[in-house]
Amino acid sequence: MTTLADRFRRHAGMMPDGLYHSLLQAMAADWEAGGIVVEICRDWADAAGSAVVQLRLLAGIQRLVLSGAEPQLAVYYPNLGGTASPDGAWQAFEPVLRRHVGELRAALEVAPQTNEPGRSVPLLVGLFDAVRRSGLASVRLLELGASAGLNLLVDRFYIAGDGWSAGPESSPLRLTEAVLGPVSPVPFTVADRRGCDLAPIDASTEEGRLRLTSFVWPHDLHRYERLRAALRIAASHPVPVERASASSWLGSMLAGAGPDGVLTVVWHSITRQYWPVAEIEATARVLAAARDRMPLAHIAMESPVLRDDRSEGRREYQPTELTVQLSVPGGAADPAPVLLGRVADHGVPVRLVS
Ligand SMILES: C[S@@+](CC[C@H](N)C(=O)[O-])C[C@H]1O[C@@H](n2cnc3c(N)ncnc32)[C@H](O)[C@@H]1O
Repeated sequence: MTTLADRFRRHAGMMPDGLYHSLLQAMAADWEAGGIVVEICRDWADAAGSAVVQLRLLAGIQRLVLSGAEPQLAVYYPNLGGTASPDGAWQAFEPVLRRHVGELRAALEVAPQTNEPGRSVPLLVGLFDAVRRSGLASVRLLELGASAGLNLLVDRFYIAGDGWSAGPESSPLRLTEAVLGPVSPVPFTVADRRGCDLAPIDASTEEGRLRLTSFVWPHDLHRYERLRAALRIAASHPVPVERASASSWLGSMLAGAGPDGVLTVVWHSITRQYWPVAEIEATARVLAAARDRMPLAHIAMESPVLRDDRSEGRREYQPTELTVQLSVPGGAADPAPVLLGRVADHGVPVRLVS
């Protein structure tokens, strides 16, 4: 039987070194020795691997550091400027775990969740395509599985590539050289923006910002900086994200006629793989039913399923694709999605296919 220690070690093996490699190894040994990790994680011994208990625990620990409760540990966190060697870091971490058993047990209840602003780049590339083909420069953005809604702020980020740019140059978030291939920007304005998520995070609260940041790995400096910059923007430009499932929320958003002269854009990134089949099918039905009522662009940054091994409970995915399915009332009932590019998991770079 796979134990939590096995899982911790397997996860440690996914990175060659660094703080999390070292902590995961030490926590595995501590679990086997009946140490403080057992006291914190004992209710999770039989949890499914997909619960990734180790990420919950590491995020809970990072929250203690980010919030200033255990500032002496910051020296180990590269994202906080720390340069201390992770070798032997466990001696400094173990007493911290002992001091915060209750908080860390509560932290295990928090499912890992990230909101990656790098994914605004494929959204922007898809938007340019949809605006150009539809001839409609006013867009209403609707995001499914939006988390904190950071990618709905796409027009407030400076995004640039070879010979082109979009967004305010003074933006705290600058995503440059993020598209491999030619891009021709087209102007657009965002008439409305909103999203839904089963577990939305409120980026306007300290707790929400802390939660999102705590799931970014401390050696992932680019992601940490991107998130920090996007959160600064979100603080002054809050975006509504409703607690709802994709299909039910989209059904209410797309009911009736669409707004006049506006392109409705339904967008989602790295969320469909978490949806049950019924959710995927219901969302497709809602989109299909809305096509003869409003100009509609469906932009997706998702990974098609390659193999679904139900007996093992494991799915394998193809590389993530950026697709745009555009329709106008009176046009094709089910227009084929256009593949614009392949995308790294965190959104950048986008590799255009032509
Ligand atoms: C990996 S995160 C991606 C968040 C965001 N789209 C991004 O790219 O940064 C997946 C998100 O999908 C949400 N989610 C999962 N199933 C959902 C569903 N059926 N309806 C709405 N949101 C869902 C989760 O709560 C989570 O916030």
